[in-house]
Order: sequence, then structure tokens, then C-alpha cells
Amino acid sequence: MKIISVVGARPNFMKIAPFIRAISHFNKQNIRQIHHLLVHTGQHYDDRMSAQFFEELNIPPADINLGIGSGSHAEQVGKTMIAFEQVLIKEKPGWVVVVGDVNATLACSVAAKKLQIKVCHIEAGLRSFDMSMPEEINRLVTDRLSDLLLTPDAISTGHLIQEGTASKRIKLVGNIMIDTLDRHLSSSLSMSLKDIVQNNQMEKSSIGEIDGKYGVVTLHRPSNVDHQIVMEKLVQFIVDEVVPHCKIIWPIHPRTAKNLKTFKLWEQIISVPGIYLLQPVGYLEMLRLNSGATFVMTDSGGLQEECCVLGTPCLTLRDNTERPVTTEENGGLSRLVGNSIANIRSGFNDILPLQRKPFRPPLWDGHTAERCLKAILDY
Ligand code: UD1
Repeated sequence: MKIISVVGARPNFMKIAPFIRAISHFNKQNIRQIHHLLVHTGQHYDDRMSAQFFEELNIPPADINLGIGSGSHAEQVGKTMIAFEQVLIKEKPGWVVVVGDVNATLACSVAAKKLQIKVCHIEAGLRSFDMSMPEEINRLVTDRLSDLLLTPDAISTGHLIQEGTASKRIKLVGNIMIDTLDRHLSSSLSMSLKDIVQNNQMEKSSIGEIDGKYGVVTLHRPSNVDHQIVMEKLVQFIVDEVVPHCKIIWPIHPRTAKNLKTFKLWEQIISVPGIYLLQPVGYLEMLRLNSGATFVMTDSGGLQEECCVLGTPCLTLRDNTERPVTTEENGGLSRLVGNSIANIRSGFNDILPLQRKPFRPPLWDGHTAERCLKAILDY
């Protein structure tokens, strides 16, 4: 059997690493071999957004890199489809496995399905019901086309059933990203906070002791970082109302860094003692930062899930989430506050005194990748 799996952007790498490991494990145990090829579309290309994750997570180098790079959504999706179609015609895989909800996920599932190649979607069934998010469009199309839909939780399975997907095509397997978290948590905990800050700091300033109390901020969604007025208010809130309580460690996504500079907010932030702006950090570094944080303030879905398992109170700067399983109502510690400052302030005051409270939804047990591979083999 030949499987092509696809990655394109940063959040894909922690999801594909355990799947590739499950295939190698299978090949060591069985005479029947799986021929696996990894395709990187090249959507994320900076070392800090891509290569460092391959290295840390022991992902073998991609067999094929499509070199798509940055661009508008149509450009990224269109170029990926054209390039990936050629790979499919040459390689003729039995399956294409896509993960998550980035442009690579959409483009490669469409290209595969048009050539009648079976598609498996890992992390199927997530829905924010917000069609202004490009990821929601990617999720809907990918799930509609997939032959095998592997879901992380029962809520996601429910969405697929409601949409009319045949239940025999759906399998609840758990959250594959937690396989990666479990594998790397202990080595991340041996890292020093001060080293992480020192090694990644964008603007050098003196680093005092970073003790038990610090918050981690990450923002990259267009709804939060593309509009000057929204960014100005967020930065002002962090400077005036968060920093007096604790230090802030803020690994910055390239889009956010660019916009902070365009909006002339960069100088303001770097002049505030107690805010450390970091380059995009590696997986282990982020896990270490998260494990010791008093809180995380983020618009990343993946971080919401990691906070849930690590028990870090998480203020989610979004109006909706495709991962409701991580919210307070469902047992997690994530609170949706959108980007209105009044909501963020009240959420911040509520979460600041909270204790850590780790929570694992069913099957977030570190063995999801094996179940994914089994589902494909059993299909
Ligand atoms: C993509 C995903 C998003 C995911 C995020 C994680 C889609 C639709 N979006 O958004 O779901 O949460 O990745 O990071 O696929 N850039 C660099 N270096 C890089 C890559 C990008 O500098 O290696 C810059 C470019 O200026 C680019 C911008 O970052 O225009 C945004 O990159 P893009 O690929 O458009 O999507 P993300 O915002 O990263």
C-alpha cells in the first residue's frame, strides 16, 4: 500500500510526526509494508516555522517539497493543486492523508479526490460555524470529500453525523497532537526559561529572573492582527493591565511582527520592561513556556488544546471555537473572550487566580496515531 501524507504549515508538523512513526513501527512488525511519502507544500518555509519542527520532532525530510510559499489564498491553493496533481499522477498512491485545516489540507484533498484517490482526514469534524475563517472553509470542503474521517472528540463526530456523513466513514480516534505532547513533555521540562527567552529574544533587553509568574501571549489570526484599531487596543491592554501583574513572553508570528511594525506599535512594546518579544519558538520551547505559565492568551486552536491537557488557564481571543471540548463548559480551562477589551479584562481577572487543572477528553491518550493507521488499514 502506498500512502502520501501532506504537510504545509506549522500546525501540521506535530500532527504528522506521530503518524509517520506509527507507519515505521508497522513496517518493522509486518511483512506487508506500507510505502510512505511525505509531501511538504512549502506554505511555511522559514526555518523557524518549518525546519526546526522537522528536526525536533524527528520527522524525516519531506520526499517532495512543492515550494508554494506565501500568497493569497487562491494562489496558495491553486498552485498547490497544480503541483500536487503531478505528484499524484506520478506516484499513484492508494491514500492521501491530510491533517488539520490549512490551505494544504484543502488543496491536496481536492486534487486527490478528482483523481479518484482515497482521502483520509485526521482532525475531521471540527466546526467553528464561522465562514469568515479560511480554516472553516478548508475543513468543510475536506470533510465533504474525505473517504475516512478521523475525529478527535465526540462533538466533532456529532457534527459529521448531523451533516449527513455515513457513520461507517467516521471514526473517533482522539487527538493526534497529544501523542506529540506526551512524547516530548519530559524533555521540554528540562529546558530553562531564561535560556528560551535569551535565545529567541527579538530585541535584546536585560532579562531579570523569570519566576513562577508569567503569561504567554500568541496572536496570529487576521481578525486580531490585521486591523490597526484592534491591535492598538490589545497592545494597550497588555501594557497597562497585564504587565503590572506578571511578565509576558510573546513569541511572534511573522504576520503579527509585520503588522506591529506597520502600525507603529513595535517601538511601544519593546520599550516596556517585562514584555519579551520572541521569534517563533520551537515545539519543545513552547511546551516548556506553556507548562510553567500562569495563563496563556492566544488565538491558536492548537494551543487551546495543549493548555487543556497541561491545565493552563487559557484566554482565547476569539468569538467562537472549533474546539469546544477545551472550554470551561466542557471541562477544560479555555474561556472565549473575543477581542473586545471589556470581555478580555473580565476574563483576565477571572482566570488570573485559577489553579492549573489538567483535563484529558476521552482518547487524548498519546495513542491516536496507531488508531489512525489501523482505521486506514481496516478500511
Ligand atoms: C496558516 C494557517 C492557519 C494556521 C497558521 C499557523 C491557512 C489558511 N492558515 O496561517 O490556519 O493557524 O498557519 O501559523 O492555511 N510567513 C513567513 N514565513 C513563513 C510563512 C509565512 O514570513 O515561513 C509570513 C508571510 O508574510 C505570510 C504570512 O506569514 O504572508 C502568513 O502566512 P500564511 O501562509 O498566509 O498563513 P498563516 O497566517 O501563517
